[in-house]
Amino acid sequence: MIISPLESAFLRACRREQTAYTPVWLMRQAGRYMKEYRDIRAKMSFLDLCKNPELCADVAVTAQQRIGADAAILFSDLLLILEPMGFKLDYTEGRGPVITGRIASREDVARIPEIDPVDSLHFVFEAVRRTRGGLKPGMPLIGFSGAPFTLAAYILEGGSSRVFEKTKKFMREEPLVWHALMEKIGRAVIAYLKGQILAGVDAVQLFDSWVGCLSGDEYRQYVLPHTRKVIEGIRKGVPVVHFGTGTGNFLKEFRMAGGDVCGVDHQLPLDRAWEMIGYDAAIQGNLAPEVLLGPVTEIRKEVKRILDLAARRPGHIFNLGHGVLPATPVENVITLVDLVHEMSVSMRTP
Ligand code: CP3
Repeated sequence: MIISPLESAFLRACRREQTAYTPVWLMRQAGRYMKEYRDIRAKMSFLDLCKNPELCADVAVTAQQRIGADAAILFSDLLLILEPMGFKLDYTEGRGPVITGRIASREDVARIPEIDPVDSLHFVFEAVRRTRGGLKPGMPLIGFSGAPFTLAAYILEGGSSRVFEKTKKFMREEPLVWHALMEKIGRAVIAYLKGQILAGVDAVQLFDSWVGCLSGDEYRQYVLPHTRKVIEGIRKGVPVVHFGTGTGNFLKEFRMAGGDVCGVDHQLPLDRAWEMIGYDAAIQGNLAPEVLLGPVTEIRKEVKRILDLAARRPGHIFNLGHGVLPATPVENVITLVDLVHEMSVSMRTP
């Protein structure tokens, strides 16, 4: 018998089909909360790890198997695509990523090369192939990229930010340059995700992690057309998860960008978020990451609350509202996955 990821609970839920239980995976399921990951990181820098396909595959497969998640996610980082685009990338302990390379004019945008990721990011595609090879048959593998806005914001801010004042000022002062930059990033993202799909991922997630700093109007004007183009550019039967945080005020606009699954953070109750998104899309979320710090009685309560709000409607993928926090005990993550499976099965039995 050939076991295909297509029949997995995760991909069935992406297509809003009935599943025997609610599938669950966690953003940053491979990361510092896990001892196996810290042991590898003790020996090399984060960037060196990201460029080592064998170890990336090991980290992704180990995380999926250790916690029993219903999907693996490629181990890489959102910002790697910026290197072949001509930006310098550093991950400094405690400060987060630092991106160097100024963008102020149309000429600066024109100088950013059109990238051929199959060449310049070959280690990512090799990591996809090796991860696929290390997973049990039938286990779905999720590829990912940053969405144009979040990548543009990293470029313009030079790193992480709270208020994104440089990005917002730039959008307003130089709208033509802004749109040119977003288009250029969008083309790179399409090529990058197509490459991951060719290499063997079963679904892709577009992270627009910082888009919640915008209003609905700003989203519609400065971001929506570009994200929509990316999603239209990659969609050929491979489900797209479109994720953002802080999108509660403009989920309708966010949804207009398209995709099969809408990823939401923990600010809105799941039922309200799904109502705003519309039931023609699946939903992914939305446990607050802090809940996983404990105690287990609270985790159980929150899982029940979220499953109740999903109300057995097909198309719910359980996840956090954002990534696993480094201080999270791994046992709590394992318990969470077990609880989602057990409780959702029992809710389906009449
Ligand atoms: O398990 C997984 O989710 C797969 C791997 C993954 C990483 N980053 C590994 C990582 C994924 C999907 C990402 C995406 C990513 N990267 C996002 C979007 C998700 C989100 O959190 O909203 C963003 C914004 C980034 C950029 C980034 N990378 C930041 C801001 C940081 C530093 C902050 C931090 O958590 O340390 C990183 C580094 C990073 N990416 C780590 C990991 C495991 C930690 C690096 C380390 O080992 O020190």
